[in-house]
Amino acid sequence: MAVLGGVVSACIGADGETCPEARLEAVRAQDLKEKDCGARMWREAIQQVLISETELHRRIQALGEAITADYRGKDLIFVAVIRGAMMFSADLARAVDLPLTIDCIALSSYGDRHVSSGRVHIFKDLSESIAGKHVLIIEDIVDTGITLQYLWNHLMSRHPADLHVCALLDKRARRQVELPIKYTGFDVPDAFVVGYGLDYQQRYRNLPFIGILHPEVFEKERLQV
Ligand code: IMP
Repeated sequence: MAVLGGVVSACIGADGETCPEARLEAVRAQDLKEKDCGARMWREAIQQVLISETELHRRIQALGEAITADYRGKDLIFVAVIRGAMMFSADLARAVDLPLTIDCIALSSYGDRHVSSGRVHIFKDLSESIAGKHVLIIEDIVDTGITLQYLWNHLMSRHPADLHVCALLDKRARRQVELPIKYTGFDVPDAFVVGYGLDYQQRYRNLPFIGILHPEVFEKERLQV
């Protein structure tokens, strides 16, 4: 509020009205306060904030620059794996300074549990052909690699010009199937993470950061089985 107070007082006109810049600053400060309330509400479920909103933003800008350099002059299509990669793909697409198209595919191997079932289902397939296109899979997290392998085979059968992977998070410790990941946002430890699109039982996707879910949340799940 101290900084905000300075801005406001510098922008108050003779009639006592604040200028548009000051009002904007006030709105931003209010947003921050509300985010803080949100974080407080989730505190019991989140053991640790692993990657902050600022770190996510910086890394995604850097990934966007790398993709821009690598795909210049190519017919690029993002295949966003929803729902987990919806926040990431939306922000990454805006960090890429090239014309591109975006399609979505809905997959699941987790159901509502925190341990992968190992069985992958396609709930929604692509809407357009990827034949002859430069396809970049946008994943939220690669864990065992089973989902990615399934998706890779599925997309390769549709004859893209080339196929690569961009994963926000890489949980290497649990890998069972190795596939090349061309762009990685962050390596993460062997813990169940939520936020910024990643869920546990469809919740926590709207957290603006990536956090480690408190094991007590799983404990409740175990007791309910
Ligand atoms: P994999 O097949 O084991 O690599 O799992 C990939 C999918 O499982 C991801 O796309 C996520 O939807 C989900 N997943 C894996 N680990 C986590 C996690 O820590 N938090 C939330 N979802 C996860």
